[in-house]
Amino acid sequence: GFTPRVFSGIQPSGNLHLGNYLGALKRFVETQEQGIETVYCMVDMHAITVWQDPARLARATRELCAGFIAAGIDPERSILFNQSQVAEHAQLAWIFNCVARMGWMKRMTQWKDKAGKNQEEASLGLFAYPALMAADILAYHATHVPVGEDQKQHLELTRDIAAKFNHDYGVDFFPLTEPVIEGAATRVMSLRDGSKKMSKSDVSDMSRINMTDDADAIAQKIRKARTDPHPLPSDHAGLEERPEARNLVNIYAGLADMEVEQVLAEYGGKQFSEFKPALAELAVEQLAPISAEMARLMEAPDEIDAILARGAERARAIAAPILKRTYEIVGM
Ligand code: ADP
Ligand code: NA
Repeated sequence: GFTPRVFSGIQPSGNLHLGNYLGALKRFVETQEQGIETVYCMVDMHAITVWQDPARLARATRELCAGFIAAGIDPERSILFNQSQVAEHAQLAWIFNCVARMGWMKRMTQWKDKAGKNQEEASLGLFAYPALMAADILAYHATHVPVGEDQKQHLELTRDIAAKFNHDYGVDFFPLTEPVIEGAATRVMSLRDGSKKMSKSDVSDMSRINMTDDADAIAQKIRKARTDPHPLPSDHAGLEERPEARNLVNIYAGLADMEVEQVLAEYGGKQFSEFKPALAELAVEQLAPISAEMARLMEAPDEIDAILARGAERARAIAAPILKRTYEIVGM
């Protein structure tokens, strides 16, 4: 058996948003509070699979670290670090590039979405990204990964890579990591289009609530969020064909730590003109202190860098012996 250990990561590609908060950061904090060993990573090497302006990347990495801390991650209790600072990720990723099959990677829906019609012009890194993600997780022998629903397929690939490595080399070395996809808001959708997930890369800033938005911006985005003309239904089933309504109810439930049914018990039959201001108030109440704390932390970039450097040392202390053993197994 493997000792429980949680790993997860977020890309420092700017525009940290409400989906990242509800689908990831908030869960990371809950996991930390359960007393499980938690390893959280700014995955800058994933970010550069698509072009990143260097100065912007450096800033986004610090801002993301500030976001983790402002959301409640304690850099003493959790290991908080930047992926590129721990070379073991890239080293193990190469081994996994040689384990993963082309066909597996080609089936990844995120690859197909992100590369679009122009696959020939996509970076090789974008294609190989899930093998690096497997290395991120397995370099720590992580047993559990809290993620949003969009990462489910990549987690399955991580298990496939671990299983094939174990099989090919006749060992029981890498765990078959479990995804942890929980809560009302594991897939927060765009505020402008209920069929698209809220994303850092959406060109429309109105599509997402950024973690750095102030109270006015948050309220305005919720006020302008797309909806339908009907009042809210009184139960879950009534949300089925109403993606925009469902999204706003899910967001409310996620922020308030309520079940969707509880939210509908309160707001069923009410118009959006009543629900939206209540949601805006809740969002501002929860997010404004986080964004204020992020801004405060960003005024001390040296402190952030020191936290990341210390985190990288602690991360390396776990990953280095696992990589060493991997090399031995492979015969290197
Ligand atoms: P993005 O997809 O916005 O670029 P990342 O790929 O860095 O963000 O994802 C970081 C974490 O946030 C992952 O656990 C991912 O599942 C989660 N996440 C991203 N977008 C959403 C969303 N719209 N709803 C819920 N969770 C999300
Ligand atoms: Na993503």
